Amino acid sequence: MAATLDQSPPSPLAIVLMERILSEGPLSFATFMESCLYHPEYGYYMGPRQRIGRDGDFFTSSSVHAIFGQLIAKQLHQMWEVLGCPVDFIIAEQGAGTGHLAQDILTALQVDYPDFYSKLRYCIVEISADNRLRQGELLASHQRCVSWCEQNDLAGMVGCYLSNELVDAFPVHLVEQRDGKLLEVFVSVEHGSFHEILQEPATEALSGYLKWVDVELAEGNRAEINLAAPSWLCNVAELLQRGFVLTIDYGYLASELFAPWRTSGTLMCYYQHTTDANPYIRVGEQDLTTHVDFSALIKAGVESGLQQLFYGDQCKFLLGLGFVDALLQAQAREVEPHHAQALRLTLKNLILPEGGMGEIFKVLIQGKGVQAENLLCARSLRDLPLPVSGF
Ligand SMILES: C[S@@+](CC[C@H](N)C(=O)[O-])C[C@H]1O[C@@H](n2cnc3c(N)ncnc32)[C@H](O)[C@@H]1O
Repeated sequence: MAATLDQSPPSPLAIVLMERILSEGPLSFATFMESCLYHPEYGYYMGPRQRIGRDGDFFTSSSVHAIFGQLIAKQLHQMWEVLGCPVDFIIAEQGAGTGHLAQDILTALQVDYPDFYSKLRYCIVEISADNRLRQGELLASHQRCVSWCEQNDLAGMVGCYLSNELVDAFPVHLVEQRDGKLLEVFVSVEHGSFHEILQEPATEALSGYLKWVDVELAEGNRAEINLAAPSWLCNVAELLQRGFVLTIDYGYLASELFAPWRTSGTLMCYYQHTTDANPYIRVGEQDLTTHVDFSALIKAGVESGLQQLFYGDQCKFLLGLGFVDALLQAQAREVEPHHAQALRLTLKNLILPEGGMGEIFKVLIQGKGVQAENLLCARSLRDLPLPVSGF
């Protein structure tokens, strides 16, 4: 099985994990990945480092432009109205990164919907102390309504539970179909390097998952199974008394994610805006991520009492919320023509299908105890007023 080809000295976390493997035996890939990302001392998300944006390792939609948050703010305002403008509306954001999405949402609400802004509470659930610190600094001007809490503190909430690129950061199990049997990847150590071995799965939940989403792995194929994703969604559904769950991430429905032609899964490592498929290098110093199985989120939602209100590409979601108009307005505020041109190119990234974030990113909105057939984001271009000026 593939061993690391890394010639550089092992990172502090690699040493910790090798010692653990030598004393406890091979670790499931999910345990290995969990340490890479969330080891309290050396995990990628836990230490002080720039992860998102130009000086980090990857971009997210909220790091591209404030328009992303401004349009989500519009959708949140409509959700508030659909619920009857309650005085205890909570926007809960789990995995808020640098806090830019929260900042853009709150600033837009303050300007465009002051009544809603004056009533809402914005509660952040964030695993990383370093990120909590960054969020606190960025959101200082909104401190009246922002607070941090544990997920379970939100029990009984009325409002919207929001996440952008959270679920892709959950640790996953790696599996392979060999000689008609499902096997699991474990991480071992050989000659001082990480080394993968295939074993019987440690839990029957892995084959149970594939049956549940109604797929079979093709012979020889490797795939990831994110057991944490559906259980996270069930927990969110239970916490919510009334309202919405808005999940944005890259991914597909199970039939596409586990398709026979996808022979080696979607696991990807990000470091300084370069990608690699080797999780055994820069251990704890690079991001590890996988595409989300939206079938699992939809199914888990249905099983825990959520109604599916919207599922579609980020492109459709943003266009429905008035992306074109917002783009034209932002462009009109730019005085320098080349700044306006740069703005257009940046914003195109949010909706472009190929090479951009428009198609690979999906948006899922689920509801509990709400009647919401006409969400703004579901509007088709036909239903939108034409912008007054052209490009
Ligand atoms: C890929 S980043 C996305 C950041 C941000 N939402 C954005 O769009 O820029 C993942 C975020 O989720 C956080 N995170 C990961 N697992 C988490 C968990 N179980 N609970 C809370 N936050 C978590 C990470 O610390 C990080 O802030």
